[in-house]
Amino acid sequence: MRRWMIAGNWKMHNTINDAIALAKAIKEGTQGVTGGEIILAPPFTALQSVYETIKGSHISLAAQNMFYEDKGAFTGEVAPSMLKDIGCTYAIIGHSERRKYFHETDDTVNLKTRKSIVAGIKPIVCVGETEDEREKGVTEFVVGIQVKKALYGIDKIDDIVIAYEPVWAIGTGKNATPIEAEEVHRFIRNIVGDIYGDVCKNTKILYGGSVTPDNISELIGMEDIDGALVGGASLKSEGFIGIIRKTSEKK
Ligand code: PGA
Repeated sequence: MRRWMIAGNWKMHNTINDAIALAKAIKEGTQGVTGGEIILAPPFTALQSVYETIKGSHISLAAQNMFYEDKGAFTGEVAPSMLKDIGCTYAIIGHSERRKYFHETDDTVNLKTRKSIVAGIKPIVCVGETEDEREKGVTEFVVGIQVKKALYGIDKIDDIVIAYEPVWAIGTGKNATPIEAEEVHRFIRNIVGDIYGDVCKNTKILYGGSVTPDNISELIGMEDIDGALVGGASLKSEGFIGIIRKTSEKK
């Protein structure tokens, strides 16, 4: 039985004070919600204060990125051991914005995913096709390669979360229909099943891309959609709490 998971990706938003206020509101507004896991991914500068705010609660902390080396001359990068040190349980890896603006590739996504496992940080690995790729009918081809390359050389799937985020749906207000999303989630589960066998039934696959309190119930109602990676709607406590509550009622 897979437990639901809702992760809020705050991207490059919120000062320390804003982050503390938002984390506090989410913590209070989701008291008593059970059956799943809530994750907050603030910017690096607010990780420490958000950790202090949610410490000992039902909410876990994620970084939005990490590097694949332990230490060294890598100006501007953050090592997984540093994320552990600051209280992170998860790291988002290979978000499409990182692939697009910071030239991350399937190879760096693989290096980061492998490293995170060794370092004890659970990766949330993002995959998804562009609008052009969907229109050309190559969604499964593209997503299939992304998933296989991300997982290449990794023996155990247990701690890996996959987020299917169609690039054309991120921040655009155009979300995939529940059926479109379910088709790709099922496809991803089958790929993971081919590699890891039956244990893949426990692998969490999140949907991301313009998730709101209005569309979450239908999405989460699909068999292979285990939760959501939420961007814009995670920046306002009421909206994010609504998404969490609706998920917990449905799953
Ligand atoms: P969005 O972003 O909810 O604003 O579309 C999702 C994401 O980028 O993870």
